[in-house]
Amino acid sequence: MSDNFTRWREAEEKRLAATYAKFPVALARGEGMRVFDVDGKAYLDFYGGHAVAIIGHCHPHLVASLGRQIGELIFYSNLCYLPVRAEAAEKLLGLLYPEMTRLFFVNSGAEANETALKIARRRSGRERVVAMQGSFHGRTIATLSVTGTAKYRDAFSPTIASATDFVPFGDMAAVEALDPARAAAVILEPVQSMAGAVTADGEYFRALRAYTRRHGIALIFDEIQTGLGRTGLPFAGMHWGVAPDIVTMAKGVGGGIPVAACALTEEFAAGIKVGDHGTTFGGGPVACAAVKATVEVIEREGLVERARAMGARLGARLREVPGLADLRGMGLLLGFAMPRPARDIQQAMLAKGVLVGVSVDPRIVRLLPPLTVGEDDIEVLVRALKEIAQ
Ligand SMILES: Cc1ncc(COP(=O)(O)O)c(C=O)c1O
Repeated sequence: MSDNFTRWREAEEKRLAATYAKFPVALARGEGMRVFDVDGKAYLDFYGGHAVAIIGHCHPHLVASLGRQIGELIFYSNLCYLPVRAEAAEKLLGLLYPEMTRLFFVNSGAEANETALKIARRRSGRERVVAMQGSFHGRTIATLSVTGTAKYRDAFSPTIASATDFVPFGDMAAVEALDPARAAAVILEPVQSMAGAVTADGEYFRALRAYTRRHGIALIFDEIQTGLGRTGLPFAGMHWGVAPDIVTMAKGVGGGIPVAACALTEEFAAGIKVGDHGTTFGGGPVACAAVKATVEVIEREGLVERARAMGARLGARLREVPGLADLRGMGLLLGFAMPRPARDIQQAMLAKGVLVGVSVDPRIVRLLPPLTVGEDDIEVLVRALKEIAQ
C-alpha cells in the first residue's frame, strides 16, 4: 500500500459511514476499459465500475456532450419542457421493446423499481407482488420488500414484505399456486446478477408472460443490469420474444451519470395521471444529455453486437481456464466458480491489476465489463486467471 493510497483511505474512512467493503484502491481517473489509481497504476475493469461503465470510462463522446450541456443548462425540473429530454427519450425508446412507448426518468435503480411497483398497484388496485427468491431490486424499504436475498433484507424487517410472495426463480408452478386475483405485479431480473448471474429458460419467461397477461398482472422486468445491450440484445427479454409491461433501467443508462428510467407500454402509461408521481431531479438536462450520448455510442459503435460477440469469446476462453466451473450468465454478464472462494480470486486478480466482481454466492466470481471490451482485454483476464489457477 502506498502512502498516497493510505492517506486517501484514511481521509475517506474518517468521514463516511462505513457501509461498504471496499477494494484497496483509490482511483484518480478512468479511460475505456481501464481505471488508474492515485499512484498511476492501471486496472483492467472487468467489474465495469459496478456494472455502470457500459460504454467504458470517460468515453470522449459522453465527456463532450456533458461538457456542452453543463455549459448551457445544468438543471431544470419536469415543470419545463427540455429539448434534450425529448431527444434522450426518443433515443432510449428506440433501443427498447417496440411495445414500450413512454418513459419516466428517475435517479437510481431502486427509485425506478419503486416507480414500477407503484404504477402496477395503482393500475390493478391489488396489493400483492410476486417476487423471486435470490432477487435484488434495491436498498429502499419498498425495494427490499421484493428483494429475495435475505442478506440484504432481513436486518431491516419488517419491510412491507407482508405483501410479497417469494417464489423460486424459474419455477412456473410456484407462481401458478398463488392467488392471481390478489397480485398487482410479478417483478424479476431476467438474469439474477447479484445471486451469481443465474438465468432461467425462455419457456419460463414465455409462460410467465402468458400467465400475467391472462390475469391482468403487471410483468416488470428489472433490467438494471441486463439492459442497454449487456446480454447481447438491447434488452434481455428479446432473447425469448417476451416483452414485459414495465422495464426498469439504471446503472449504465447514463454511462456513469446517475440516471434511471421506467419504461411503460402505452396501456400502462395511460393509467398515470398528473400528480400521481414525481421527482425533482429525474429527467434533468445533464442526466438526459448522458442518456442521449450513451445510446448514441451504443449505436455508432455497434456495442450490442459487440457484447454478443465478445460475450461468446469470453465464455469460450474462460472454459479453457483449469479448474474453472459452473460458467453461467448471458453475453457480458457472466459468473463462474474456481476451486477457491470468489473473494480470494477477486483479491488475487486485483494484485494482478484486474478488477472482477463477486456475488451473494461465495463461490461465484462475476464479470460485467464495459461493452467496449476487446479481445486483448479478454486475453489479459484469462492469462491472470490461469496464473492464479496454478
Ligand atoms: C438488478 C438490480 N436492481 C436494482 C438495483 C438497485 O439499483 P440502485 O443501486 O441504483 O438503486 C441494482 C443495483 O445493484 C440491481 O443490480
